[in-house]
Amino acid sequence: MSSERDMTGSEQGKGSANQMWGGRFADGPSAIMREINASIPFDKALWRQDIDASKAHAAMLGAAGIIAADDCRAIIGGLDQIAAEYETQGVPENWDLEDIHMTTEARLAEWIGPAAGRLHTARSRNDQVATDFRLWVRDAIDELDRGLAELQRALVSRASEHAHSIMPGFTHLQTAQPVTLGHHLMAYYEMVRRDRGRLGDARARLNESPLGSAALAGTGFPIDRAMTAQALGFDRPTANSLDAVSDRDFALEYLFACSTCALHLSRLAEELILWASQPFGFIRLPDSLSTGSSIMPQKKNPDAAELVRGHSGRVIGSLTSLMITMKGLPLAYSKDMQDDKPPVFEAAGLMALSVAAMTGMIAGSAFNTDRMRAAAELGYATATDLADWLVREAGIPFREAHHITGAAVKLAEHKGVALDALELADLQKIDARIDERVYAALSVDASVTARASYGGTAPAQVMSQVARARRELGMHELGMHELGVNE
Ligand code: ARG
Repeated sequence: MSSERDMTGSEQGKGSANQMWGGRFADGPSAIMREINASIPFDKALWRQDIDASKAHAAMLGAAGIIAADDCRAIIGGLDQIAAEYETQGVPENWDLEDIHMTTEARLAEWIGPAAGRLHTARSRNDQVATDFRLWVRDAIDELDRGLAELQRALVSRASEHAHSIMPGFTHLQTAQPVTLGHHLMAYYEMVRRDRGRLGDARARLNESPLGSAALAGTGFPIDRAMTAQALGFDRPTANSLDAVSDRDFALEYLFACSTCALHLSRLAEELILWASQPFGFIRLPDSLSTGSSIMPQKKNPDAAELVRGHSGRVIGSLTSLMITMKGLPLAYSKDMQDDKPPVFEAAGLMALSVAAMTGMIAGSAFNTDRMRAAAELGYATATDLADWLVREAGIPFREAHHITGAAVKLAEHKGVALDALELADLQKIDARIDERVYAALSVDASVTARASYGGTAPAQVMSQVARARRELGMHELGMHELGVNE
């Protein structure tokens, strides 16, 4: 970038005035001004939205008789040619043209001559950028939503495959109660469902057209804002021009939805990292999403999961960044707001990659269900089942049952055995009301099967949640395991 900053010291300020707004300027901008002002290096990402919005605006100006039909046709034809050019050759980066709006307008003038100057009638870059950016964020929401639906499909498929697989459930990362792997995976399905809901809410509020708000106060030209709103797929025009050109809450809502989703992904990533470690040995991540070590030949590292965990920090940072940019800005537009775009573009790119990587890891991991089950059998995970049995079968109040169970765990720990390996005589020494039926409650299978309350971990519950999820996702076909066929 600094190679473009060729003028220094007393040379600053020399040069001709800007063609677009230089009418009242004697001198051109200094090199520093050019560099700090130029947003084209990043806002060229808006080119498609900018051209769509300009075409809608030109068509409306023509229909309203504000510009001549010939000029309207020439402008729209020229914009189509520029789109084809950008598509194949990319957007040129000329700092003198500052941003995507002036870059395209200047190119239009080269294509169609003076008529290009009529496009900016009844419009300002302020409503233009607000419109383009809403269109861009709307597309980003739709793309992320599609990616998240894929992730949900992967979660649901693996959950239905593992509705009966037993693993330890944790609180405080200490073994708490046995759960099913399907239940654990479906927990993330629910988080992603809400993430998609948040994106949908943000989209609904975003979908109003700022176009026609002009610089800040609206315009004296007889424009038709409903027409441009409709052409661009907005539900309606925004109701206040000052607000429309100067708020970016739609981008903040998008970044908040991204941040919450990234945070969910980072938790799942962390679990995959733990599960892939040797002491756990619960999963083998796909080779395609792992890396090796240049020094330790035995290593297979969960880099993709670690980067999903890491990227969440940057996505959350983008939300903070834009909030801080916006705080305290007076109405209406201020140039600070040009900095709204880099955090949004960065977050969108990171989300797309993170979601794709996570989908691949969920779909492609091998679960070691024997290890998971063995881990669930350690750590007295069925202690609550013993307490529940005492309540149910012996009519003991839960607090007392908790105390009796604590004594049983202490004894098992002392003897170095699992709860269901304690002799009945030993259990009866702790409390005489215990009989041999208790053993049926102490297995991990009995434990998960018993937890059949709505939303609970029992395989039957998991399968009914999987069935609901399949309906939500429009996944009708049943997997082979559900048809009783062993893969
Ligand atoms: N590139 C500018 C931005 O992204 C466009 C708006 C410029 N408006 C202005 N009054 N200078 O914010």
